Amino acid sequence: MTQIIFEKAHSFYSPLKILFGSNTIKALGSEAWQLGAKRALIVTDPGVVKADLLRPVKESLESAGISHVVHDKVEPEPPIRCIDVATAQFKSEGCDLVIGMGGGSSLDVAKGVSIMATNAGSVLEYCGMDLVKKQGVKKILIPTTAGTGSEVTRVFVVTDEADNTKKVVNTLYALAEIAIVDPLLTLTMPPKITADTGVDALVHAIETYVSMNATPFSDILAEKPIQWIARYLPVAWAKSSNLEARYFMSLAATTAGMAFASGGLGAVHALAYPIGTGYRISHGRANSVMLPHVMRYNLAGNPEKYAAIALLMGKDIEGLSDLEAALLSVEAVEELLTTLQIPFHLSNYGIQEEDFPKLVEGAMRFSRLFIPNPRDLKEEDVYSIYEGAY
Ligand SMILES: [Fe+2]
Repeated sequence: MTQIIFEKAHSFYSPLKILFGSNTIKALGSEAWQLGAKRALIVTDPGVVKADLLRPVKESLESAGISHVVHDKVEPEPPIRCIDVATAQFKSEGCDLVIGMGGGSSLDVAKGVSIMATNAGSVLEYCGMDLVKKQGVKKILIPTTAGTGSEVTRVFVVTDEADNTKKVVNTLYALAEIAIVDPLLTLTMPPKITADTGVDALVHAIETYVSMNATPFSDILAEKPIQWIARYLPVAWAKSSNLEARYFMSLAATTAGMAFASGGLGAVHALAYPIGTGYRISHGRANSVMLPHVMRYNLAGNPEKYAAIALLMGKDIEGLSDLEAALLSVEAVEELLTTLQIPFHLSNYGIQEEDFPKLVEGAMRFSRLFIPNPRDLKEEDVYSIYEGAY
């Protein structure tokens, strides 16, 4: 099913080490010790503290003789000042290792601390592609959701409060030395967050799979997550303690993250960003809402891949043309969203038609994501997708 272009060069990005599996959190101290750390800043959010997930982290660091200090003030969709405050703490406490633990926001702030601890100026100077000058301090990233894949990617996203927009720092230096992915840390995730973050991972896999920038690496790493998420996300959502479902959701989120770190994203993320920032809707939920509508628009640009997605999500495509089968991928996604009780129309979230021009303006700021998207988009196309999503 893959479309490999033989004459093209392909890049693949990954952390130095991914430690995956149940109870791997217990190895944190020895991993930090091997990196030469003496004092760690743990960057996290109040939810992680409340769920008592820091206990094994502290125990493991203490048993390895590594002192630590906790920064637990990461906000959702983190503004740049979150990175500034945590970096100041990192420096004043004399730390030499940053540990990010939590959802995408905590991991992204930890990446920001790592880079701003060694690079002068403001985060804003580094928003864009490969603008960071120096390697950051060493970092270990530990996800407690199964969604963003931030533990394995080379980007972090911040909110610029000056104009309430998302900005992206894309640099090799954002890659972690070590990612520790322990599915047991996701067991306490409530159903709504399980669903929203899980669909975010599905969006990563689908967007990179159909992308014009897809590579043999990203294809291989996107296919299984699509299959696993279709099968296991409803189970993890319905029964939070189901270890098999949590295991495969963690594996799916991490591998989908590796896929998009090498293949890139597309129009779903571009059209979802202004919904997230404008209406205080989580990144995963905003992506979930836009996913079927952007897929329907995109089908004609890569019917073979969308047909493969339908098959991976359990649809019977025998005897159908690629385009007929591709349509079933949208059906499969809408069925999944319905099962997860995720409404996928803008009107469900209080968004009005008169808001569309502002949404279009916000999405156009991410028009660079339209280049790898399988179908071209102009401003009027973005408007019509929002109309279709209403
Ligand atoms: Fe995402």
